[in-house]
Amino acid sequence: MSKKVIIITGASAGIGQACADRLAKAGWTVVGASRRGSSGQSWQGMVMDVDNDESVAQGFAQVLAEHGRIDAVIAGAGWGLAGAAEQTPIADAKAQVETLLWGAVRCAQAALPTFRQQGGGRIVLIGSIGGVIALPYQAFYSVGKFALEGYAEALAYEVEPFGVQVTIIEPGNFKTDFTQSRRTIVPSGDDPYRAARERAIGTMERDEVHGAGPADVAKAIERVLDSKRPPRRVSVGKMGERVGVMAKRLLPFRLFEKSARGALGV
Ligand SMILES: NC(=O)c1ccc[n+]([C@@H]2O[C@H](COP(=O)([O-])OP(=O)(O)OC[C@H]3O[C@@H](n4cnc5c(N)ncnc54)[C@H](OP(=O)(O)O)[C@@H]3O)[C@@H](O)[C@H]2O)c1
Repeated sequence: MSKKVIIITGASAGIGQACADRLAKAGWTVVGASRRGSSGQSWQGMVMDVDNDESVAQGFAQVLAEHGRIDAVIAGAGWGLAGAAEQTPIADAKAQVETLLWGAVRCAQAALPTFRQQGGGRIVLIGSIGGVIALPYQAFYSVGKFALEGYAEALAYEVEPFGVQVTIIEPGNFKTDFTQSRRTIVPSGDDPYRAARERAIGTMERDEVHGAGPADVAKAIERVLDSKRPPRRVSVGKMGERVGVMAKRLLPFRLFEKSARGALGV
């Protein structure tokens, strides 16, 4: 059989790039997509903007025409928006969700006809710990990632009969370009949120900068792709982060909220 083909979005940096490097080494034919279109030593780059219908449709058609098949997609393209929920312009909030949610939906929709025809495929969505535990001063990042959780869960029921497996990865804080790419809404003039916002964002940025490199996430994703019956959700990160995800699911919410405040910098 010819080599399996995977499209990875967000491959020009961070987690996507680590996945592209690792999976190419493991024998996959990797096409790494991003707006920059950078390529790796052993994988091919492609210019594709997940915010754009046509760009995604064209990108998937191009890969299918060139390689004759698509076996898996990792939807990893993303960026972060920070700011007080009250002060965030709706247009900025929508732009955030456009990439995090609709970008991933576009890629899944573009891949599914091919997966069904081939009798199977893999969809790996990069969610976040912020899609399980809502992040103060990054409300719309959490909106996008929480929505992705719901999408993954519903989609999995629908496509499993066609042999398609869906997994959402929930990384904690990792050291990537994400921290420097984050956009923060800072209003001019009087700002009642300033001190609290700076504390919360500062806490998050410190955790990211002191996080592990993205190779850990790529390793977890390779395991998912190799597994015949992959888990629906995979939480990757420091022990404290993984315990936090579990605690959110198990504890009465007020109790969870009280214990999470310190870690969230509020
Ligand atoms: N780092 C963390 O701590 C962390 C934690 C949890 C979840 N995540 C998630 O992991 C994913 C990857 O983030 P990262 O940490 O690897 O960040 P990163 O190093 O900043 O990489 C982000 C990637 O997304 C691409 N991208 C952004 N917007 C795009 C668009 N509209 N179309 C196509 N590509 C786009 C960027 O490339 P171009 O700029 O060239 O387009 C880049 O390749 C994101 O979904 C993020 O939310 C990260």
